[in-house]
Amino acid sequence: MLASLLPLALTGLLHVAGVMAQDLPTCSLDKKCPKEHPCCSQYNQCGVGAFCLGGCDPRMSYSLDSCMPAPVCESKTYKMDSMDKIVSMDKYLGDASKADWMYQGKPLEHNGNILLTMPPQSVGTVMASTSYMWYGRVKAKLKTARGRGVVTAFILYSDVKDEIDYEFVGVDLETAQTNYYFQGIPLYDQGGNITIDSDSYDNWHEYEINWTPDKIEWAVDGKVGRTKKRSDTWNETFNQWDFPQTPSRVQLSIWPGGLATNAKGTIDWAGGEIDWNSDDIKKNQYYFATFGEITVECWDADSGPGSNNGKSYIYTDFLATNNTVEVTDKKTTLKSLEGSGIDQDNEGTGKGNAATLPGGDVSGSGSSGSGNHDQSGSGGSTGGCGANSFSQSCSNSGNSDGSGDDKGGAPGARGSASLGVVIAVAALLLI
Ligand SMILES: *[C@@H]1O[C@H](CO)[C@@H](O)[C@H](O)[C@H]1NC(C)=O
Ligand SMILES: *[C@@H]1O[C@H](CO)[C@@H](O)[C@H](O)[C@H]1NC(C)=O
Ligand SMILES: *[C@@H]1O[C@H](CO)[C@@H](O)[C@H](O)[C@H]1NC(C)=O
Repeated sequence: MLASLLPLALTGLLHVAGVMAQDLPTCSLDKKCPKEHPCCSQYNQCGVGAFCLGGCDPRMSYSLDSCMPAPVCESKTYKMDSMDKIVSMDKYLGDASKADWMYQGKPLEHNGNILLTMPPQSVGTVMASTSYMWYGRVKAKLKTARGRGVVTAFILYSDVKDEIDYEFVGVDLETAQTNYYFQGIPLYDQGGNITIDSDSYDNWHEYEINWTPDKIEWAVDGKVGRTKKRSDTWNETFNQWDFPQTPSRVQLSIWPGGLATNAKGTIDWAGGEIDWNSDDIKKNQYYFATFGEITVECWDADSGPGSNNGKSYIYTDFLATNNTVEVTDKKTTLKSLEGSGIDQDNEGTGKGNAATLPGGDVSGSGSSGSGNHDQSGSGGSTGGCGANSFSQSCSNSGNSDGSGDDKGGAPGARGSASLGVVIAVAALLLI
């Protein structure tokens, strides 16, 4: 659930900070998207294009086929030594053979690894695999971020919000916190900690999730630290297994749990308020987590749940359980960021009047989603306070004490305070 705060925070940026040129409809289980904006993004807003690709929730979309089919699992080792196959979300149209990862925020190549960065007053960086896993094993070599309020995450996350997590808070570098969710429903007792045998910021460790139809194992440096069996997750009231069971993307992120304006519970959990003037920030200009090799091994069932004999996964029912996912040969790519699952061949007008990025850019002019969003990828901190504020770099001006206090001053300050409000709301709802 805590990993889910980041997406919610992004929704908040759009809504509360008023960065949107035009208000997009929101979506939930009870409120599906309208036909003109058919796809419900991971951040619970309706749109086209990127909204219909990774993270699109078919249960909340206009129809089950509004989201694009999801690229099937591919067993693969990602070296994470260059940005070559890592693309900004506004450059991705659903072809997983062209890009391994898509991102929002600011990832960088550094010394043969990928850093996910979080500059002052930003909401950090999130990167998601373009292909999905339907059970299987994923291992990541990583070094966590450090510092009060700074959270690093390595999770599996499905379009219907099944989730298997590792989360690391930057004040406790010897604990890997693990968790799982079924369809994003907050339950209270499923967390579990694994002790890491040396500091997770200075040292590489290998974190592994081994997910099968019957159990989840979390292993650190090859040693299983926690097991959760499906058989222990039966929900009698709802007659369902509260167990992750749908195709999921690998998601890596750094995010500000300790934003001053967050709910106290979130800040406490994250180890306190973030210090945007820390020695680490002075030295590097950002907090960062370091990612090395990531390996995905698909489950490879012959048929049914966990298979990948085809091109794509689709959902055939709103229940979104393992037996309502099907492997098909349907294509996964859109012609433009103005298309959707029910309008796949839309060539786009180039006018960009559609909001092109969930949780990010809404370009009022120019071609789909170019422009502004690139700033967060290229490290520029000029401008960027307009339609696109994923990284909130604009809020540096006039609010460098990190208080997030909204005195009605610089637009950026308002943006970051608002972000906190929404994280707080999310926290109230979810914790
Ligand atoms: C895990 O460790 C953190 C401290 O890092 C603590 O706050 C949390 O309560 C622990 N969770 C469990 C389930 O023991
Ligand atoms: C799908 O999940 C159900 C429980 O929800 C389980 O009984 C069944 O064995 C699973 N099917 C497969 C093939 O894993
Ligand atoms: C059963 O599932 C419902 C909704 O899916 C959830 O609200 C409830 O907390 C679950 N019950 C238990 C005992 O986990």
